[in-house]
Amino acid sequence: MQLKNRTVLITGGASGIGLEFAKQLLAKQNTVIITGRNPEKLAKAKAQLPKLHAIRSDVSDITQVESLCVQVCRDFPDLDVLINNAGIMKTMNLHEERSLQDVTKEIETNLMGPIRMTQKFLPHLKKRPAAALVNVSSGLAFVPLPISPVYCATKAGLHSFTLSLRVQLAQTKVKVFEVAPPATETELLGDFNSPDMKGISIMKVDAMVEHSIRGIENDHYEIRPGQSNQLKFMSRLAPEFILNQMSKPVERMLKGGAARAS
Ligand SMILES: NC(=O)c1ccc[n+]([C@@H]2O[C@H](COP(=O)([O-])OP(=O)(O)OC[C@H]3O[C@@H](n4cnc5c(N)ncnc54)[C@H](OP(=O)(O)O)[C@@H]3O)[C@@H](O)[C@H]2O)c1
Repeated sequence: MQLKNRTVLITGGASGIGLEFAKQLLAKQNTVIITGRNPEKLAKAKAQLPKLHAIRSDVSDITQVESLCVQVCRDFPDLDVLINNAGIMKTMNLHEERSLQDVTKEIETNLMGPIRMTQKFLPHLKKRPAAALVNVSSGLAFVPLPISPVYCATKAGLHSFTLSLRVQLAQTKVKVFEVAPPATETELLGDFNSPDMKGISIMKVDAMVEHSIRGIENDHYEIRPGQSNQLKFMSRLAPEFILNQMSKPVERMLKGGAARAS
């Protein structure tokens, strides 16, 4: 699907991968609308890219998803691409006490968010002559990194939802894409220390997004840049080995927890 002269809505577009998508899509003469929760981050993105349209909206809040849909479909009736990109990632020691609200926050943002956005925007997208839904999952959709157990469950869930959505929309003009980034240089990795990232190569965000846009333009429905491709391959070829490799940071986390408890 050509990404030129389109109208694109990107959730979580004020930083990282979403902002880079916005930048590269503006350069290709698209109209770009971004969302996010933090008004200061949105204003900063708008100052950096004045042609951007920025709307404050939280994908984990049903009312805000509903009002976003009304506002965007009214003000941007040519909307034809939705990029479900907003996401949060936590490291989580499941032995530790945590509120029930906090333990599922990633599910509300990373999984319920894209499902609700899809549900609300699909009727509009189906009316367009050509449209696309792009779900940003992760290489961790294929193999979990057990130090972030809920995050990885959300990404595996989003991968599964995207497969089903693609099947159900096969007879429509809405194409369904999945971008599964590898570790990419953004604020999201801020929680991780360098021993946890050992052996993981971190992709530059501009290269990751360039790869993804090229994939969408070539109708590659599951785009797995860099190490994400290896993760998918290894999850089929040697699932126990790769899970074992991904589990090493947990040993350090549990030792740290035990040290704090003693
Ligand atoms: N970086 C990586 O290594 C990596 C790897 C694989 C997949 N991904 C995925 O790529 C996507 C983008 O992440 P990123 O790396 O670019 O991280 P990022 O720079 O932290 O960007 C995430 C964006 O989402 C927004 N956001 C968070 N919760 C939101 C909510 N409830 N409603 C609306 N917006 C929300 C944040 O802005 P506010 O805080 O202002 O809302 C932020 O701008 C995520 O889905 C992430 O899981 C990233």
